[in-house]
Amino acid sequence: MSTRPRLTVFGTGYLGTTQAVCLASLGFEVLGVDTDPARIAALAAGTLPFWEPGLEPLLRAGLARGRLSFTTSYRAAAQFGDVHFVCVGTPQRAGSPGADLTQLRACLAGLAPLLARPCLVVGKSTVPPGTAASLGERLAAAAPAGLRAELAWNPEFLREGHAVADTLRPDRIVAGVWSHRAEATLREVYAEPLAAGVPFLVTDPATAELVKAAANAFLATKISFINAMAEVCEVTGADVLALADALGRDPRIGGTGLRPGLGFGGGCLPKDIRALAARAAELGTGPALSFLHEMDAINQRRRARVVDLATQAAGGRLHGRRVGVLGVAFKPGSDDIRDSPALEVAARVRALGARVAVFDPAAMGRARRVHPDLDYAGSVLGAARGADVLLLLTDWPEFAAADPGMLANTVARRTIVDARHALDADTWRDSGWDYRAPGRPWQPPRGRAAGAFPPASGPDAAAAAAACLAAAI
Ligand code: UGA
Repeated sequence: MSTRPRLTVFGTGYLGTTQAVCLASLGFEVLGVDTDPARIAALAAGTLPFWEPGLEPLLRAGLARGRLSFTTSYRAAAQFGDVHFVCVGTPQRAGSPGADLTQLRACLAGLAPLLARPCLVVGKSTVPPGTAASLGERLAAAAPAGLRAELAWNPEFLREGHAVADTLRPDRIVAGVWSHRAEATLREVYAEPLAAGVPFLVTDPATAELVKAAANAFLATKISFINAMAEVCEVTGADVLALADALGRDPRIGGTGLRPGLGFGGGCLPKDIRALAARAAELGTGPALSFLHEMDAINQRRRARVVDLATQAAGGRLHGRRVGVLGVAFKPGSDDIRDSPALEVAARVRALGARVAVFDPAAMGRARRVHPDLDYAGSVLGAARGADVLLLLTDWPEFAAADPGMLANTVARRTIVDARHALDADTWRDSGWDYRAPGRPWQPPRGRAAGAFPPASGPDAAAAAAACLAAAI
C-alpha cells in the first residue's frame, strides 16, 4: 500500500457524499462511486443532491484541487482505491420492519470480484447485527486478492445539519477490525482527527456494527421516554418542559436528546430501531429489545396527539379551517422529509378537510413533490395569512424569532400549536395568542382578545371557563 492510501466511497447519499467530501478536505485523493449517473454528474459539477450546511463549498474545493472525483465505474474504483468505504443505503424493507440490505449486498457483489490487490473494504452503513461477519466471508471468497481484501466496520454517527463537523471531529471513531493491518490503515485515514484528540475505539466488527444500532436505539428511547412523560403530564396537569429541564440537570441523565414534542423522524432513528428489534427477534432474543416496539408506538402517538391539539385549537373540527404550517423538514438544518413527523401532521390535517399553507426554509421543494395537495407559501407571514390555527412543527430558529405581534395582524385567529416547544409561551400569550403545546397545561391568552375558538370540553374547557369567570369578577 502507498504511503497515503487512495480512497473510494461507494454510495453518494448523505453519508457517502459527506464522507467523500470530508476525506478529500483532509488531503486524500478520493473517488466517489454511485450507480446513478445523474447524481454522479451533478456531484462532479459541484452540486449536492441534498442540502447540508457547509458541505457544498468543501465539495467544490475538493473538485477544484483535483482531489475529488466521481464515477459510476466499479472497475475504475477497484483499480483506484486502497481503502473502499461502503456507504450505501440500508432502508426499511417494504412491508417488513427489517432492514433492506439489497444495495449493500449488490455493492459488495459488484466490487469483490474486481479486487485483485490488497485493500481494505470498510463498511459504514447502519446494519443489523451479524451483517459484517456474513459480508466478510463473501468478500474473501469472491475477491481475487483472497484474504488480502479484508473487511472492517467503522460506523458513522453524523447528524444531518451537523454532518461536516460530526465527520471531521466526531465524538469517537469506532474501528471494528479483524487484524492489526486493518486497524493501522484506519488510523492512517483518521490521522488528523486522532491527532486532535478524537478517541479511537478498537473493537471486533460485530461490536462496531452493534455500537451504531445501539446508539440510535438509545437516542430514540430517550426521546420517547420524555414524550411518554408528556402524555402523563397531560393527564396530571404537570408541565413536560419544566420536567425535562429538571431531569436533564442530573448529569447521569443529561438534557441532550430530552426535548419533548413531536418526536423523532428522518431516515435513521425510526427504521434503525425497527431493524434492530427485528434482527434481535430473528436471533432468538426478541424479548431483550421488545421495548423498542413501545418506543416506536410512543413516537407514532405524538403525531396523532398534535393533530388532536390542532383539532381542539380549531374549535373541534378541522374541516373547512385554514391552517398555517411552519416547518415540514424532519428537523431544522435539513431539507430531509423522510418519515418527517411535521409533514405527516400537515398531510393528516389536510386529509381532515383543512386548507393547509406550509412554509419551510429548506424542504419546500421536496415536500411539494410528495404532497402537491398542500399550499406552499413563500414565508412565515405567507403561511400565517388568514389562518384559523398556526402549527409550528419543525423547530427552525427563524420560527422562534417570529414576532407574535406582527403575526397577530396576519392570521384570522390568534391560535398556535407549538409542537416543538420552540416558542416562549408567555410572550405569545401576552400578545393575545391562544398558545398550546403538547405536555403543557393550557392557559388562557392575555392581553387583547385572541379571537380563538373556545375549548369545547375537557380540562382546557374548565380552564377557559375559570379564566372567563376570573375576568368577569
Ligand atoms: C441520528 C443520530 O443522532 C446520529 O448520531 C446518527 O448518525 C444518524 O441518526 C444516522 O443514523 O445516520 P439524525 O437523524 O440526523 O441523526 O437526527 P437527530 O438530530 O438525532 O434527530 C432525529 C429526530 O429526533 C428529529 O426528528 C428530531 O427533531 C428528533 N428529536 C431529537 C427530538 O424530538 N427530541 C430531541 O431531544 C432530539
